[in-house]
Amino acid sequence: MSMPNMPNVPNMPNVPKRITQSLISRLRSAQRVVALTGAGVSAESGIPTFRDAQTGLWAKYDPTQLATPEAFARNPKLVWDWYEWRRALRRDTQPNAGHYALAALGKRVPRLVVITQNIDGLHQLAGSSVVIELHGNLQRNKCSRENIVIERATARPTDEGLLACPRCGAYLRPDVVWFGEALPRDALERAFAESTQCDVFFIIGTSGVVEPAASLPRYAKRAGAFLVEINPEETPLSAIADVVLRGKSGEVLPEIVKRVVGQMKVICGL
Ligand code: OAD
Repeated sequence: MSMPNMPNVPNMPNVPKRITQSLISRLRSAQRVVALTGAGVSAESGIPTFRDAQTGLWAKYDPTQLATPEAFARNPKLVWDWYEWRRALRRDTQPNAGHYALAALGKRVPRLVVITQNIDGLHQLAGSSVVIELHGNLQRNKCSRENIVIERATARPTDEGLLACPRCGAYLRPDVVWFGEALPRDALERAFAESTQCDVFFIIGTSGVVEPAASLPRYAKRAGAFLVEINPEETPLSAIADVVLRGKSGEVLPEIVKRVVGQMKVICGL
């Protein structure tokens, strides 16, 4: 797809060559944009990623002890407390420039859908209006037996320091997806539908190793989308990306958006 009469895109001093004219052109004319995000997009907010060798959560904690249904059955207090700690961590954080840039881009393109593996809710807080949460949300709880969302205020505290379902008495658990569990069906169906209908697909801050999220870019590419990866590190998805931007999302995304918005001003005379 080429854009006739496009003004030249000047080189940005701090992002030379990385943001190509082709990407900006495509974003300018895109009807539908998808951004698949992972823990890296929240790293600059102070939330640790999972697989960083030094600071990643899975370097310090064993996921099989904390993020599986079996772990919860074995030691619900340990799992509950770990998520309470993560909730406290999240409460002390704010969206960063990357979250805000995506929200701003969403106001400039006809449709921008954020598909996130994150459970922190920071995209919504930054103002993104269409967010598909593949792995649930840290703030919600559900009944571990009935699988229905329960408001914390209505739950019954237990002697063990947990919360129980007001309907059936089973423990509440965070409404997040654990290893070995299926993703919410509606979210997954919407994610695949959006991925196969978009013009530009961003892969931002994800190691691209957890399925089925990691397959979304491949489906998007097969359906004709232009793939852009933003990540300081190489990932298994780098090889299929049309543009790879090696940098932090909180630095790269605002540059892209500035240029898309700037060009729109030129074209639309705003
Ligand atoms: P990972 O921890 O696997 O990967 C984070 C990625 O973010 C890495 O590729 C980093 O290089 C990159 N990164 C770090 N800082 C960045 C920054 N400032 N800007 C951009 N990228 C940056 O996290 P996810 O891919 O999200 O699932 O992990 C996927 C799933 O695995 C998670 O949702 C979680 C985890 O186990 C469940 O808990 C079910």
